[in-house]
Amino acid sequence: QDLQKIRNFSIIAHIDHGKSTLADRLIQRTGGLTEREMTRGQMLDNMEIEQERGITIKAQTVRLKWKAADGETYELNLMDTPGHVDFAYEVSRSLAACEGALLVVDAAQGVEAQTLANVYQSIEHDHEIVPVINKIDLPAAEPEKVRAEIEDIIGLDASEAVMASAKSGIGIDEVLQAIVDKIPPPKGDRDKPLKAMLVDSWYDPYLGVVILVRVMDGVIRKGQQVKFMQAGTTHLIDRVGCMTPKIEQLEELGPGEIGFITAQIKEVSQTAVGDTITDVKKPATEPLPGFKEVQPVVFCGLFPTDAADFEKLRESLYKLRLNDASFSFEMESSAALGFGFRCGFLGLLHLEIIQERLTREYDLDLITTAPSVVYKMHLSKSKTEDAKTIELHNPADMPDPNRIASIEEPWIEATIYVPDEYLGAVLKLCQDRRGIQKDLTYVGHGSSTRAMVKYELPLNEVVFDFYDRLKSLSKGYASFDYHQIGHREGDLVKMSILVNEEPVDALSMIVHRSTAEIRGRGMCERLKELIPRHLFKIPIQAAIGGKVIARETISAMRKDVTAKCYGGDATRKRKLLEKQKKGKARMREYGSVSIPQEAFIAALRMG
Ligand code: GTP
Repeated sequence: QDLQKIRNFSIIAHIDHGKSTLADRLIQRTGGLTEREMTRGQMLDNMEIEQERGITIKAQTVRLKWKAADGETYELNLMDTPGHVDFAYEVSRSLAACEGALLVVDAAQGVEAQTLANVYQSIEHDHEIVPVINKIDLPAAEPEKVRAEIEDIIGLDASEAVMASAKSGIGIDEVLQAIVDKIPPPKGDRDKPLKAMLVDSWYDPYLGVVILVRVMDGVIRKGQQVKFMQAGTTHLIDRVGCMTPKIEQLEELGPGEIGFITAQIKEVSQTAVGDTITDVKKPATEPLPGFKEVQPVVFCGLFPTDAADFEKLRESLYKLRLNDASFSFEMESSAALGFGFRCGFLGLLHLEIIQERLTREYDLDLITTAPSVVYKMHLSKSKTEDAKTIELHNPADMPDPNRIASIEEPWIEATIYVPDEYLGAVLKLCQDRRGIQKDLTYVGHGSSTRAMVKYELPLNEVVFDFYDRLKSLSKGYASFDYHQIGHREGDLVKMSILVNEEPVDALSMIVHRSTAEIRGRGMCERLKELIPRHLFKIPIQAAIGGKVIARETISAMRKDVTAKCYGGDATRKRKLLEKQKKGKARMREYGSVSIPQEAFIAALRMG
């Protein structure tokens, strides 16, 4: 394929601004699917439909053929990118595979923080960015205002922004023509040794691991022996192809092209995003720049509510990992919760996705322990051991406090974009979470003015409920984006929660000394409401070391449930007792105290 006739691009958009709808339209317009296939729903976003058709999930890249105004047919590769901060590295590799991007902005909503972060990333990759103002069909659309916002806020020339309605099909040809005209063709040399970037991979039950690649130099073809330079493994390519979005097999992919390969690989953990694929016989000397191994940053314990589900949980985790090498798990046992797994995630959203899939697809009832970030503990010399630094993933494994010389915690830089009226509340929230303000600017004009604040925050203060709080105090208007900026020393301590004098390890957490008391008090108050009364008094305490910093007491209950039944209606009494038994099954016994499972999750939500 002539490089001049190829265009590789991604779509940048804030959630709900119409990325999927536009992608569908582009596929439809270029003949990838018939009208009937289209009406079945969004092609790039729909698992069920994809499975039905044997099109593989993961909304990967699609190849579009478009006859442009010059009469020539172009190959347009639309690269789908995950839209969330948790998957920043994957996003960066997808972007590195493209030369340009469509920036889709909702004509009624305007520019949002998440969009900004992605746009800046795209600019860093030297992308040509084509603004598309979408949803111009909406009565509330203000395309001119949004055009000005794109220029003022992002600093892009939006004078030739395409006005579109992905829903009504307005401006679709213009978008395609703009891709051909504005986005530069890829560069690459067919005669050089093969260098292809591993952009993404996923597990397909029929094909095994499917790998999305972007060829930089050389050619990748069927039957070729290739080497993965970072992993150090070699494989025989057995399939080469592209998605239109139907699978189309090809003989080869040349420089500048994006497509997929398979090589009888069984697990995605063997295919690291960002790896360089080269030819075994005629290898490249250097791998592509920018390779990074992804590491989980948020850890929590997952325990089956019903201990009998442990094996099922293990199997489900294995299955999920087939398709997602970025989360980790290892067995963990807890005095309170029994056997479960300590799992690592790229971020809170990632955690929620996995948790949700376990609950919904695998029908598991789970208890999640307090999410924790990774702390660096500097330990001083002991009688038997030298001084050393360890990484702590689980507050339950906290070493002897006497040996801790210092603790470092991860920090992030957050960008928050919020209408002026909610700014005060946002600043207070950041301040309460030990934030350090770095920047505060106003963008836009008149009624569309919004504040953009940058804060440095400890990740520990963000993982619990920061995002929820931010959304609720801004009535949903604030948007939030962050990236990690390294570890810093902090005055951190382990806070234990004791129920009836017994420490509940699932509830222990590492907190900053300055916020320990507030956190501890909040936790005790919430547990007081969540733990039902027993026949005896139950003290609930938060403690640091041996020192109690907060305390609540659940008073004793005297009456039996059945005492409510006047007379001797036996059936009624039996029903009540059965109900009580059922309720019990969802409880966890702590010594002599039963804690409902909801209490764990609810208690962890900071008020
Ligand atoms: P995520 O997949 O959640 O990131 O959203 P997205 O950006 O892919 O947005 P999606 O295409 O799912 O569109 C979000 C909503 O906006 C859907 O209800 C669409 O039907 C609607 N929508 C998309 N484009 C248009 C448009 O041009 N006009 C109108 N009125 N609605 C649109």
